[in-house]
This record gives sequence, C-alpha cells and structure tokens, in this order.
Amino acid sequence: MTNLAIFASGGGSNARKIIEHFESLSDLRVALVVCNKKNAGVLDIAAEHGIPTLLIDRTSFYETDEILKELRSHDVDFIALAGFLWLVPGYLVQAYPRRILNIHPALLPKHGGKGMYGHHVHEAVKAAGDTVSGPTIHFVNEHYDEGDIVYQASTHIDKEDTPEDIARKVLALEHKHYAEVVERCMREVGRLVG
Ligand code: GRF
Repeated sequence: MTNLAIFASGGGSNARKIIEHFESLSDLRVALVVCNKKNAGVLDIAAEHGIPTLLIDRTSFYETDEILKELRSHDVDFIALAGFLWLVPGYLVQAYPRRILNIHPALLPKHGGKGMYGHHVHEAVKAAGDTVSGPTIHFVNEHYDEGDIVYQASTHIDKEDTPEDIARKVLALEHKHYAEVVERCMREVGRLVG
C-alpha cells in the first residue's frame, strides 16, 4: 500500500475529489488529512470517509519536526496540498523530495508567489486581460509556487467573465485532473523505490 497525506485548510472540494478517487484504488490510499484550521470543511469530509485527521499549529509546524513523526507513524509516502496556504518548511521538502504536489489556480509562472491565492489569483488574471487560465500542478520546493510543473490544463476566458466566473472554470478543471495526476505521480515514485 502506498499512502497519501492531503494537507488542506479550506472547504476541501479538491480533497473530496482525491479521497473519492482513491477509494476506487486497491493499492493507494489516503491515510491522513492534515489541516491548520479547526473549523475547516475538509475535517468533516475526512470524518465522513473515516480518514484520520491531524490539526497542526504554526509553532509545531515551523519549529519542531512533530509533523514528520506523525507522517511516519501513518506510513505516509506522498503529500498532496489542496488549498493549504502555509509555506512548506525546508525540512519537510527534504524529507519528501519530489513527493509533495500542490495545485495552484492559474497558469504558472504567471500569477504565483506569496499572497497569490484564492480570489487574488483570479482578480490578477482578469486585470491582466488574460484570455486563458487554468490550474497548475507542480512539485513543492521551499518557495511559493516555484517547483517543477507536472501538469497544466487550460480554459478560455471570455471578455465578460468575472473573477468568480474564472474561479468556477478553473476549479472545474482542478476537480477533473488533480486526483489522477496525484495517482500518476505516486505510481512513478513507487516504481523508482520499488
Ligand atoms: C483551489 O483553487 C486550489 O487551486 C488552491 O486552493 C483552492 C482550494 O479549494 N490551492 P478547495 O478547498 O479544494 O475547494
């Protein structure tokens, strides 16, 4: 069994898609959901699916390696960030080299970096007059949104689309692709180590 941890702190719609997709696989599973907000919707989604959750705080995340112990105790091989806004600390990137994926709601390298999340991204896309947008799935390194790109999908933006319209179109693509890309990357890691 190859085990995934999902890090999320929001509504968790991508986390839900991944959890549902993985329920149909016999050799990969979601072993843990890590969250930094105690009322986040993703905690309810994990509970509905019987997946253990871990609530983290900033001090333990940045100043201790408690999280590593937790990940190891759940035999976590791979991590998918899905709406997790904290920068991943270097010790965690080093412990999971090319084993942490993130999804960003724009076509990187445009519209990425610190502070570029959620509606800020879609407002920037609108302000730039871009005619396409879409999610980028990339490996995580020590810098926001800079790791190697694994997959991008794009959608046309009409002149009259609002940032909310753009967000809706991009999120639909995230739901369509993220779980499968996570699965593919986990299988590649399995081949390398197995
Ligand atoms: C998504 O748009 C994703 O690209 C970004 O955060 C959002 C998470 O949404 N990283 P949800 O919590 O999965 O609904």
